[in-house]
Amino acid sequence: TAEPDLRGRHVVVSAGGTREPLDPVRFLGNRSSGKQGYALARTAAARGARVTLLAANAGLPDPAGVDVVHVGTAVQLREAVLKAAADADAVVMAAAVADFRPAVYATGKIKKKDGHEPDPVALVRNPDILAEISADRARPGQVVVGFAAETDDVLANGRAKLARKGCDLLVVNEVGERKTFGSEQNEAVVLGADGSETPVPYGPKEALADTVWDLVLRRLG
Ligand code: PMT
Repeated sequence: TAEPDLRGRHVVVSAGGTREPLDPVRFLGNRSSGKQGYALARTAAARGARVTLLAANAGLPDPAGVDVVHVGTAVQLREAVLKAAADADAVVMAAAVADFRPAVYATGKIKKKDGHEPDPVALVRNPDILAEISADRARPGQVVVGFAAETDDVLANGRAKLARKGCDLLVVNEVGERKTFGSEQNEAVVLGADGSETPVPYGPKEALADTVWDLVLRRLG
């Protein structure tokens, strides 16, 4: 059993991937399974925290002892994050949030038109939840953690993203086979706004989660 070093703390974790509906049967989405976010929620609960898990289309069973709020879209996730973050000591955004959504939602199924090319899909930008909660902390000293799934120039892109988003920690995981999206395993480097770099070797998503909580705790003091 883990030491209850997060007892008395409220932590918020987002998990899964948002789905942005085009019509009643189709959406724009991504490959997040929710496993990394759920591992963060389970490990925090095991360490004694009160945990609010904001689950976007993860299709995983609700973890025991965790408050779970299910959401669909980025706009719904933003609402849920702002509400849950109000009294949170830490917010960890492990969800893959769609940067864009269809500009128009078709209330009826979009049909093929014989002899015509399909209409292009116009997109509009979604709110950047991580940047918003980092810039406007709900509580002084609240620790905000982002995730980034990168394919190229992983560390340089991670540093730039950390600065752009304004969070305290950014967990950079490289997209690859048998890690990151959908897998039970992950491998990452956790970048700190203080310039720190904590490599986490290939292993179960719980191990990465525990390292994230260690780094959060150090910043909570
Ligand atoms: O769910 P799994 O299958 O276990 O996979 C885990 C994961 C790969 C999804 C996870 O580890 C991960 O990396 N999540 C972030 C994915 C990503 O690429 O995020 P991003 O680069 O689009 O966004 C960076 C950060 O900003 C993230 O913390 C994201 O939650 C946040 N964001 C992004 C866009 C947006 N509009 N609002 C946000 O808050």
